[in-house]
This record gives sequence, structure tokens and C-alpha cells, in this order.
Amino acid sequence: MLNLIKISHNYFQGGNTVDVIKDLDLSLKRNCIVGLFGPSGSGKSTLLNLIGLIEKPSNGNIFIDNCDTIKFKDEMKTKLRREKISFIFQNNQLLEDFTCLENIALPLLLNGATFSDSKQKALNLLSKFNLENKKNYKPALLSGGEQQRISVLRALIKQPKIILADEPTGSLDKINAKIVMENIINLSRQLETLTIVATHNLNFLSLFDISYELQNGKLLELK
Ligand SMILES: Nc1ncnc2c1ncn2[C@@H]1O[C@H](COP(=O)(O)OP(=O)(O)O)[C@@H](O)[C@H]1O
Ligand SMILES: [Mg+2]
Repeated sequence: MLNLIKISHNYFQGGNTVDVIKDLDLSLKRNCIVGLFGPSGSGKSTLLNLIGLIEKPSNGNIFIDNCDTIKFKDEMKTKLRREKISFIFQNNQLLEDFTCLENIALPLLLNGATFSDSKQKALNLLSKFNLENKKNYKPALLSGGEQQRISVLRALIKQPKIILADEPTGSLDKINAKIVMENIINLSRQLETLTIVATHNLNFLSLFDISYELQNGKLLELK
């Protein structure tokens, strides 16, 4: 499903080159939930952005479903990302002028589905997660935990193959963090996705099928 081969990535900062990812190899199958740990600045977001084809590695190859994405032109990357990859961020990035229902339906609309189909699927997801009564609310009227649960549903409605969650519970209290993480994990199991979750929270370690720590630009498996 996902193969990273000798990935390196560096940034130029204040006249210096900073090697964030160094010769990193990683091979992951679908139906797997992966924890990505590491202190702030260790490169978790960078690695997720490389996998999500938002940034291009300085060196190395990224294979998704056996396609070498390094050779892809921008339109091909956008197409692949739209069809197969969903991001969940710390700040939910919901569109504030749209209702919860519309926010969740949006990825399907962007992929060409009809308005009524998209809304119906969004409604099904909302009821499944006991949020149906919030369907016509604008995000600002929801709690942080509810907003983040809506953004999880938005990420999953198009049934992606890969979910990349960048500190998805980072701005939530303990109880909401647990609910949101469980939502992500339950839905990932149902959809049999490859899900990679960057988090600081070691309490979640046992929820992942496999966990890594980013250290000096490389991945160390955590047992
Ligand atoms: N666009 C950028 N330009 C320059 N340096 C960056 C950029 N993005 C990240 N970095 C640097 O790369 C390192 C890793 O950052 P990041 O991937 O955000 O780490 P994490 O998500 O683990 O906190 C940090 O030193 C950061 O300052
Ligand atoms: Mg980060």
C-alpha cells in the first residue's frame, strides 16, 4: 500500500540546511493503524506531508499502491490525494460559513458526487455517531471535541485508503481526546484504511497496531 524508500528531506533555515528526514525506509499495508511519536520538531508533520504528497522529498521514492509518486505531475498528485488520502489536523479547519452537514459532505462534492447523495451520506455518518442533532449547526456553535469529531467524519466520508492525522487530539481535553481518537480508530477499522496518527500522547500507544518514534530523522519501532 505505502512504501517509502530512502526518503530524505531537508529545509534551509537561516543559511543552514536542516536534515529533518534521513534515509528513511517504511513499508505499510492497508488495514493498519500506526502511531507516530516523537518530540516537537522531530519531523512528524514533515513526514505526514511527504506521505500525503503535499511536499516532495529532497531524495527517495514514495510508492502508493505500487505507483511511484515522485514521477507524478501536480495534477496526478492532486487526483491521487483527492481519491485516496484524507488529512485530519489538530485545528479542525472546518469551514465556518457552512453547516456541519455541508462540511462533511464537501469532499464528496469535490470528487464529483451529486448534492443529494453527498448530503445523504453525511447524514448517515452524523447519525451513526450521535451527532445528527448538530447537522444544521455552524462549527462555531459546537464544542472543540464536537468540531473535531465532525472533522474526522469529513475526512472519512470519501472512504480514503490512507488517513493521515497530525496531532488530531492535540487541542482537546482528556475526555474529548479519547472520544476523538476512538472515533478515528473505529472508523479506520471499519474502512480498513492505512491510518497514521502523529501524537505526543503515550496513553494511546496501546491502541495502535504498530508505533514508531521519529529520532534523528529515522523511525524506531516502539514495542
Ligand atoms: N517549511 C519549513 N521551512 C523550514 N523549516 C521547516 C519547515 N517545516 C518544518 N521545518 C523544520 O523541520 C523540523 C521538523 O518540523 P515538523 O515536521 O513540523 O516537526 P513536528 O511535527 O514533529 O513537530 C523543525 O526543525 C522545523 O523547524
Ligand atoms: Mg507537527
